[in-house]
Amino acid sequence: MKNNSNSFLAMKKIVIFVCLLVSSSGWSQSHFFRERWRPELHFSPRANWMNDPNGLVYYGGQYHLFYQYYPGAMVWGPMHWGHAVSSDLLHWKELPIAIYPDTLGYIFSGSIVVDELNTAGLQRGKEKTMVAIYTYHDPVGEKKGKIDFQTQGMAYSNDGGASWKKYKGNPVLNNPGIKDFRDPKVSWYIPEKKWIMTLAAGDRVQFYSSRNLKEWTYLSSFGEKEGAHGGVWECPDLIRMQDADTGKEKWVLLVSIGNGGPNGGSATQYFTGHFDGKRFINEEKAAMVKWVDEGTDNYAGVTFYNAPGNHPIFMGWMSNWEYAQQVPTSPWRSAMTIPRQLKIKTIEGHTRLLSQSIPSINRMLRKPRLWEKSTLSALQRENYIVDNYAANITIQLSDYPLQDTIQLAQWFNDKGDTLELRYIVSQSVIEIDRSRAGVKDFHPNFGKIIRGKRISNSNVLNIQLIMDRCSLELFADEGSLVMSVLVFPEQRLNFSSSTLNK
Ligand code: FRU
Repeated sequence: MKNNSNSFLAMKKIVIFVCLLVSSSGWSQSHFFRERWRPELHFSPRANWMNDPNGLVYYGGQYHLFYQYYPGAMVWGPMHWGHAVSSDLLHWKELPIAIYPDTLGYIFSGSIVVDELNTAGLQRGKEKTMVAIYTYHDPVGEKKGKIDFQTQGMAYSNDGGASWKKYKGNPVLNNPGIKDFRDPKVSWYIPEKKWIMTLAAGDRVQFYSSRNLKEWTYLSSFGEKEGAHGGVWECPDLIRMQDADTGKEKWVLLVSIGNGGPNGGSATQYFTGHFDGKRFINEEKAAMVKWVDEGTDNYAGVTFYNAPGNHPIFMGWMSNWEYAQQVPTSPWRSAMTIPRQLKIKTIEGHTRLLSQSIPSINRMLRKPRLWEKSTLSALQRENYIVDNYAANITIQLSDYPLQDTIQLAQWFNDKGDTLELRYIVSQSVIEIDRSRAGVKDFHPNFGKIIRGKRISNSNVLNIQLIMDRCSLELFADEGSLVMSVLVFPEQRLNFSSSTLNK
């Protein structure tokens, strides 16, 4: 015992010494992770406002994450592109702001490609050019009541993303008279060796093509009267994929909508079908709506250009335009979702998008501790609880013949907050109830129960939960049902579940 307490004291001294060293050297990264609700596993900027992920690209052994960023406040403002890099999609390093607004406007969302063949002729030296295509939003034109205040511009980097120059001939695509004309996602169309730009244009998507990234030709549009239209269309992505079972090629078109999501506010839908280099053809009936995520907090997500591996990697903004500017975090607002690998699969006759947490995250995720309310004192719980972890739940529905509501998990704390996860058998619906789970008064809709309907009708319900301080991400049935939600408990939440996989 004595030995133990001696070594404890020695350890304490070392810790104090290291802390002094760290604070005297001015390195204070550690204190960021102690802020209330600061996620550990998710990327969040040190300070101020962030929304959409932009320019997701893998280059030179690193994943680059750019994002809509306003360095001047914790609410949306004149947009810049913030920048962070990671070698594993899990540990991010925030870098200086990459792209600043200029006389043509704010820098809205867009994408980055690596110009391997130097089609734009901007390569200097050996390093391939990284080319960013983004939207210019001209606030002056907007104020004057013009409708052509959004155009597409270009910036490029000759040093692997460290510094960015604006292209002198900007804008590269003028506005044809469409008020919402933005968020270009550029990809390389292999069969015809040309660039394709997928652009949101009001209530639809437009496709353009180019040989050199500088001159763009209109090809076609898709989406009028197709899918969900509760809000303006934004942040599209066109992805070529292979059905995991049949091996057949399919094209998936992601489209975010500003309002009218399955649980209110903004959300992302997807279409599946065929793209022939000119047109996208929806394989479903026009009225059918498929959601990437049934939760409230995954918006404007797109995939990485050139990511290694067999599956596209997707990342979204983990918030909702309904309340994003009021969430109670400080001194930053918003995080990105956990990166997800995308697959497609035919389920009950329809092609479905599966979103799964990237497998490498498993080595970072701890197991939850299971708590019974009475086992420990409040102080012990507060000190020892692990507040980010993954939990896997599997239930056989036939084991619950008499229940319509199955309690899957519950989180609680001594402040009286409760977060609940349940399954309603007769409706095939998973419910996440954050109505009593902590701070919620910043918006009248935040406390609503969030519901997601299963696509699969299997008797086995399989769920992975990822909890990280202020967020819960749920992946059910191989990722055919995903629900990402924010939660702001007054104090850390303790986890309890009788259905947990051991
Ligand atoms: C989506 C969005 C984009 C736009 C950006 C502005 O969240 O509205 O359409 O480019 O945010 O920050």
